[in-house]
Amino acid sequence: MIPTIKLNDETAIPQLGFGTFLVPPEETAQTVAQALEVGYRHIDTAQGYANEAGVGEAVRASGIPREDLYITSKLTNSMHEPEDVVRSFDRTLEELGLDYLDLFLIHWPLPTRYEGDFVSTWNAIIELLGDGRLRTAGVSNFEPAHIERIVAETGTVPAVNQVEIHPYFRNEAVREECASHDIAVEAWGPLGQAKSGVLEDPAVVEVARAHGKTPAQAVLRWHLQRGDIVFPKSMRRERMEENFDLFDFELTAAEAASIDALDRGEQGRMGPDPNTFDRV
Ligand SMILES: NC(=O)c1ccc[n+]([C@@H]2O[C@H](COP(=O)([O-])OP(=O)(O)OC[C@H]3O[C@@H](n4cnc5c(N)ncnc54)[C@H](OP(=O)(O)O)[C@@H]3O)[C@@H](O)[C@H]2O)c1
Repeated sequence: MIPTIKLNDETAIPQLGFGTFLVPPEETAQTVAQALEVGYRHIDTAQGYANEAGVGEAVRASGIPREDLYITSKLTNSMHEPEDVVRSFDRTLEELGLDYLDLFLIHWPLPTRYEGDFVSTWNAIIELLGDGRLRTAGVSNFEPAHIERIVAETGTVPAVNQVEIHPYFRNEAVREECASHDIAVEAWGPLGQAKSGVLEDPAVVEVARAHGKTPAQAVLRWHLQRGDIVFPKSMRRERMEENFDLFDFELTAAEAASIDALDRGEQGRMGPDPNTFDRV
């Protein structure tokens, strides 16, 4: 049974889901179908991944009741103008073939684009909540100052902030900011995208061995115990199963602390800095 996290808008989100970044469009329907067979019910996609249609195809083919699924998408960087937000949200629902979306996020704040005005973009997202086609509004890659600004200027607090987090980059400043506003944190790149070396780190390997689990399972368990929401991505069914099998063991406080100690601060960041990232 996957735990759920209650959001500040009184909705609930499954704490474990399935990510689809870099899942090629032509392989998405089959990959997501496998994830649904394994048991995942929360799928994270984005306009920018160009694979929403494949997610929708898998969802519709699965026969799983819509209310048992949690689907997230994200506003792409070229669509921040308020009228584009509305148009592109319509397109997302069309691509997915769904009547409503559970969660829609501003993918990046882009503070050096659009004259620094991500507030109007946020206002446009909030307005989507009005007609029942969007359940929950959130942001992604928002730094503390970005959150402070949208809350101060709109009075509406996002329900989630999806940011890079893994053992080499705990991103505590953002987590603390989110906690102070009761914003749930979603950890993207939870496995350090594998390439970071997190899964080969001796401290992680040691914790995994102590429980007869894999390094990926130890890291995902660490995230869950911290209270963050995760959606690891894999193209391989055996890894989808591995990443889903997290609920029969628990890290001790000392084990969690040994993974905490791997944090490298800014040095550990894999992705772009949200303060300067400007690709549209
Ligand atoms: N908001 C944002 O800006 C943002 C940015 C990045 C990601 N995301 C979201 O977060 C999700 C997760 O992040 P991510 O996909 O970047 O990285 P991730 O889930 O940390 O890592 C994915 C990588 O790890 C490998 N992998 C998966 N399970 C494994 C296992 N058990 N053992 C060893 N290797 C394993 C995968 O390879 P195989 O596929 O070959 O198994 C893939 O190369 C994304 O898919 C996306 O939905 C959001």
